[in-house]
Order: sequence, then C-alpha cells, then structure tokens
Amino acid sequence: MRTKVLEIDPLNINIEIIKQAAEVINNRGLVAFPTETVYGLGANALDPKAVAGIFEAKKRPLDDPLIVHISDISDLDTLVEEVPPQFHKIVDRFWPGPLTIVLKKTDKVPDIVTTGLETVAVRMPSNVIAKEFIKAAGCPIAAPSANLFSRPSPTTAQHVMEDLEDKIDIVLDGGKTEVGIESTVIELVGERVIVLRPGGITLEELSSLAGEVEISMPGPLDNTPGKYPKHYSPKAKVVLIPDTRDQKEKTLHVIEALGNKGKVFGILAKQEHAADYKNANVKVLGPVNDSKICASRLFGLLREFDSEGVDVIISESIPEKGLGQAVMNRLRKAAGPLENFLNFFHPHN
Ligand code: TXA
Ligand code: MG
Repeated sequence: MRTKVLEIDPLNINIEIIKQAAEVINNRGLVAFPTETVYGLGANALDPKAVAGIFEAKKRPLDDPLIVHISDISDLDTLVEEVPPQFHKIVDRFWPGPLTIVLKKTDKVPDIVTTGLETVAVRMPSNVIAKEFIKAAGCPIAAPSANLFSRPSPTTAQHVMEDLEDKIDIVLDGGKTEVGIESTVIELVGERVIVLRPGGITLEELSSLAGEVEISMPGPLDNTPGKYPKHYSPKAKVVLIPDTRDQKEKTLHVIEALGNKGKVFGILAKQEHAADYKNANVKVLGPVNDSKICASRLFGLLREFDSEGVDVIISESIPEKGLGQAVMNRLRKAAGPLENFLNFFHPHN
C-alpha cells in the first residue's frame, strides 16, 4: 500500500481530512496520528483483525499489550468493567492528558489488544487532532507508539514515515508533538497508585494529588511496560555518564577513550556542558533544569544520531526530577543493562 501523509493544522482542523482517516479505521485500516506525547499507530480497538495489522506493521511481539485511546469518559463503558475508588479524582485532574490507567476489562475488548490480560490500559489524549480523530472514528482506538519495535518513539510525522512508510494507510501530520515522551502508565490497586512506566505526568504531579505513589520495576516475565530490556533503543550503543559533579571530566575521558579506539561517536550533552566538548559531534538535550525541553528533544536526537550512523552515543544523565525521571528511564533502556557503563570504565572485569 502507499502511505498518504495528510497535513493537518491543529489550530484550524480540516474536518474532511479527519473524516478520511476515520473511514480508513472503519475499513480495518491503520492511521498514525499525533498525540501530545508521541505519534500513535491506530486501529479500531474492538476489531481483532484491524488490531492484528498494528502488530504486523510494527513487527511488535504479540505479548506486548496496547493502549486504548478514548475521546469521552462515556467510552469507558464498553471497555471497562469497574473503576477503582480514586479513579475519578485522578482523571478529573489528568484527563485528557499523558496518563494511561490500567483497568479491569470487559469481554468486548479483544484478547489481541491486551495480549490475554484481564486488564486494559486506557488513555484520553489531549491533542486536538487525536480527539477529533477518535470521535469521528466512533470507536475506541488501540494505538502503540508509531515506530518499528525497538526504535525510539516518533515525535514527528517524518519519524513515522522512516519506520512505517507503505506499511500503513495514513499519517496525520500535525507537526512535532509537545511532550515528546510517552504517557505515564499507572495501575490503581485499592487505595494504592502504582507507576508501571514513568512518562508525561510526573511523579510529583501524581503524588501531589494522590499521596504517596509506588514505582513498580517490571521483571522479565511481567506483562508490564519495559519488559523488553532494549525497548527504546537506537541503533548505536548508548553509554550513560552519571549525573555527578565530575560528569564533564568523565565525559571528556570517555570521548578520549573512544577517539583512541577510532569509534564514530556522538554526545548527547547538557546545554551547560556542550561548549566544552570541542570538535566532537555534540547535540544539546537541554538545560539541566528544564526537563521539559530535554523530554521533547530526546527521541528526535537519538534518531538523528542513528541516521548519521554513529557507533556510540555518549549521553550525560540529567537529574531525575520532573520529566527527568521519564527521560532517564528511556535512556537507561536505550543503554541496556547497567553493565555497559561499568564495563566501559573497568574493561578488565
Ligand atoms: O503516550 C503514549 O502512551 C503513546 C501514545 C501513542 O498514546 N503510546 C505508547 O504505547 O507509548 P506503547 O504501546 O508504545 O506502550 C504502551 C505500554 C506498553 O509497554 C505495555 O506494556 C503497557 O503500556 N500496557 C498496555 N496494556 C497494559 C496492561 N493491561 N497492563 C500493564 N501494562 C500495559
Ligand atoms: Mg512504544
């Protein structure tokens, strides 16, 4: 199939384009669309054949469940059996927005969406194009990020095309996404709020509303986000430099070592350090105290390094505050096991 890229202005939505995308969904097709976090690859969540197309296009393993996107709270009736006590307080504050909630599913949700789990992950995006598209489709939209499995999530329509050109019907091009990192995934167990994946809603925001939140670190057999250790990985090897006072010296040391080895490398640096890495291929993640900028740039910069064909990305860690938590979660996954870093400094171990 030939993928159509349809530009759409979020400030002046062309309803004819939305209708065209909705029609594709109702004919079991696939539509990539912008959300406030990253681009999603959507299909009718209630149609198992349509959803199967998502897994095929992305080459996604069939045991990695999808998020179902809704445009109105009443859409939950079809999807969800019951909601826990704090549910309404939480969605009143954070929906529409970058928060995904895992809830007990009805039998109307096909097994392929949830990979056989009893629960379904639901989110109401705030992006106006996403909202209008879901509303026009008239069904809940199952959508993972619109990238090939194990590549960084797409924050532009061009990223989607790099990975999925001619594998999907339409890309709605609404420009660069605002947050740049995926939604926070939570589970509500009784009174407890358990974070399965840090993301666009920060832990600080969640706990200011819901009290203490727990963070669940998924094991290799869990059906939770991140069970695939190299989930968000660029093609290059990623070496993380810890966020310590001597970070700049450590980074310079790694630059020298890689240079001596003849490696082609790039540096993902804090804005405050970038000028000190002269003659190197430096990209600025953002100011150390602006985790929003860092989040919005992360995936695009990883893709830029990939397209330049670097062997190694040296990345400076940023403080784990605000969106810094989600940024570091994605960078750690891109780096793979912590041993990568330790081996680098202690090659004889
Ligand atoms: O911001 C986002 O969340 C984007 C946009 C498109 O909405 N979507 C996204 O989807 O990041 P995806 O498929 O790349 O990540 C969804 C994560 C998966 O890692 C999956 O394991 C988890 O949500 N998930 C889905 N259903 C679940 C469930 N029933 N229980 C636990 N985790 C679940
Ligand atoms: Mg993804």
